[in-house]
Amino acid sequence: MILSFLMDIMKLIDDVKKEVYILLNNEKSGHGMDHIERVLDLSIKLSIGLDINITTLSLIALLHDVDDYKIVGINEAKELVNAKRILNKYVNDLDIINNVLDSISKIGYSKRLEGIKPNSLEGMIVSDADMLDAMGAFGITRSISYALSKNRKIFDSSIYPNLNLSSDEYKNKDNTTMVNHIFEKLLKLKDLMLTKNAKEEALIRHQFMVDFLREYFRELNQRDWLLYLEDYLK
Ligand code: ADP
Ligand code: NI
Repeated sequence: MILSFLMDIMKLIDDVKKEVYILLNNEKSGHGMDHIERVLDLSIKLSIGLDINITTLSLIALLHDVDDYKIVGINEAKELVNAKRILNKYVNDLDIINNVLDSISKIGYSKRLEGIKPNSLEGMIVSDADMLDAMGAFGITRSISYALSKNRKIFDSSIYPNLNLSSDEYKNKDNTTMVNHIFEKLLKLKDLMLTKNAKEEALIRHQFMVDFLREYFRELNQRDWLLYLEDYLK
């Protein structure tokens, strides 16, 4: 009984993964299949000991970026066309479909800036996993890939971060350096965690990014930026 349930869910994950792969395979700006795989693994890890529906959790993790506004455009993103199509093909349970769609419509940093966040525990866990993957060592490598894919600079000592970007400003800001992105978004993520397990992991990843910035500015002899960082951390 348990074994056949596990085999069913593994088959479902495998089928949905193939669909997501087709959509995200060419994605170079930090939303590739590797990000989805890490978010799924992390979501499962964060859910240990919590009362969750594993099918719902896995589907939210796998589908959370298939209708991202950066990939399909702002208007199409609202309709969740890709997620709806995939869910209708593989899932019969309407409660699961509705929970998955509701959760993915509420996951994302720009939505959080508007005060929107997932209500279900499965949605909260995936939101945390998604934000954790934007932090730490992977957060830094993903931001570098993103900056390079958009022909942006890694660092410019004459441009300081804007620490109070609104959701619209964040979405439309097209000249941020990679280092400024760390200040403008990544260092804020530790305070946006919705579950306790994720909060602990976020503190470790946050500290790594702070250490990275300190060393970056030290190697570049950027005294003003070192002071800026220490001031930011106060
Ligand atoms: P997520 O999938 O975590 O919601 P986003 O959609 O916001 O992430 O962005 C994808 C990746 O690109 C993340 O790692 C994010 O930090 C990074 N990124 C987004 N905007 C910028 C930017 N202006 N400069 C550098 N990296 C960025
Ligand atoms: Ni994501």
